[in-house]
Amino acid sequence: MAPSVEVISPTPVPSIEAKLDQKSASSGFIREPLKYSGSLDEYKSFDVTPVIGREFSDLQLTDILNDEAKIRDLAITVSRRGVVFFRNQSLNSDEQKILGQKLGELTGKPATSKLHRHAVNNSGRNITVNEHGKLDDEISVISSEVNRKLYGNRFFSDAQNLASEGWHADITFERVPSDYAILKITHSPEDQTGGDTLWASGYEVYDRLSPPIQKLADTLTAVHHQPSFNKIAQEHGIELIDGDRGAPENTGFDFKASHPLVRTNPVTGWKSLFGAAGQVDNGWIEGVSKYESEILKKYFRQLIAENHDLQVRFKWETNDLAIWDNRSVFHSATNDYDGKRQGNRVVSLGEIPYHDPVSKSRREALAAEV
Ligand code: SIN
Repeated sequence: MAPSVEVISPTPVPSIEAKLDQKSASSGFIREPLKYSGSLDEYKSFDVTPVIGREFSDLQLTDILNDEAKIRDLAITVSRRGVVFFRNQSLNSDEQKILGQKLGELTGKPATSKLHRHAVNNSGRNITVNEHGKLDDEISVISSEVNRKLYGNRFFSDAQNLASEGWHADITFERVPSDYAILKITHSPEDQTGGDTLWASGYEVYDRLSPPIQKLADTLTAVHHQPSFNKIAQEHGIELIDGDRGAPENTGFDFKASHPLVRTNPVTGWKSLFGAAGQVDNGWIEGVSKYESEILKKYFRQLIAENHDLQVRFKWETNDLAIWDNRSVFHSATNDYDGKRQGNRVVSLGEIPYHDPVSKSRREALAAEV
């Protein structure tokens, strides 16, 4: 007789979608990929690596903020290249929020998806987003000082953990997670070096799976879970934001959501590995044994962290800005400095993740484009 195997239930997460009688953020979302119109071709830019990253050399985002064709093309460029960089930007925090919302709106995100209000990284920490003392729940201030206080030694330069433990995509524990994130570094490290950020292409990770493993991954879902918020809220007396963290589905204190392991990006139509790295460290792959889940998680993390040819690394100066597509890239900060580093991050919400079985991988789609 075959040994009995403990299989992880495919539906362990309480879902509120059923309760929401609304135009759901996922229903009917499958559609044709969007086409770049060429409106940004007049600006100097270069691909930072073959697979991921583009840098615009001298474009000021404030110059195109009111040009919908250009912002739509910018969103398409971010979704295709994974992350796009801009130097020395004058964009203020309100303009950054406008940009964050427009990127998704102009590429067809659900009307109910707004900007994320982070349960912990919000104005309750009293960190201002500008020199006029402004507090704003829709900006998660990224602060080395607060991270060290709340999350402890992994944010110190002498931490003994693996730097590669930092790979993640933002807020995937929400039922409606992020489409785009915009980070503007307002204080690059006072030590004058360090604090780089790395991004890795989830499209390319998917392309590096063999066809049988791709087929398996295509059928799976994973539970994303972030248990540390409740813990630090208790330890530091923080009141977590509950109601409506930017979308009606994003409520409650479970910080847990089930999403397809392989997600179709609605802007490019390309498949990306999604249920991997930090967002599932405390979660699991559903419908397989615990042991298989751990092995698959370890393998996917290894593909992200150990393939430096699907990563791009950015060295920040004060006021540099990056925009990435959280649906299709992972990122990791580098905690190799001791001074203060701070930035304003706007995280916009997209659609409920879906897997379109007829969507293509990036390499397949690019081959068909030529
Ligand atoms: C983030 O994880 O979104 C912030 C990345 C960084 O601080 O470089």
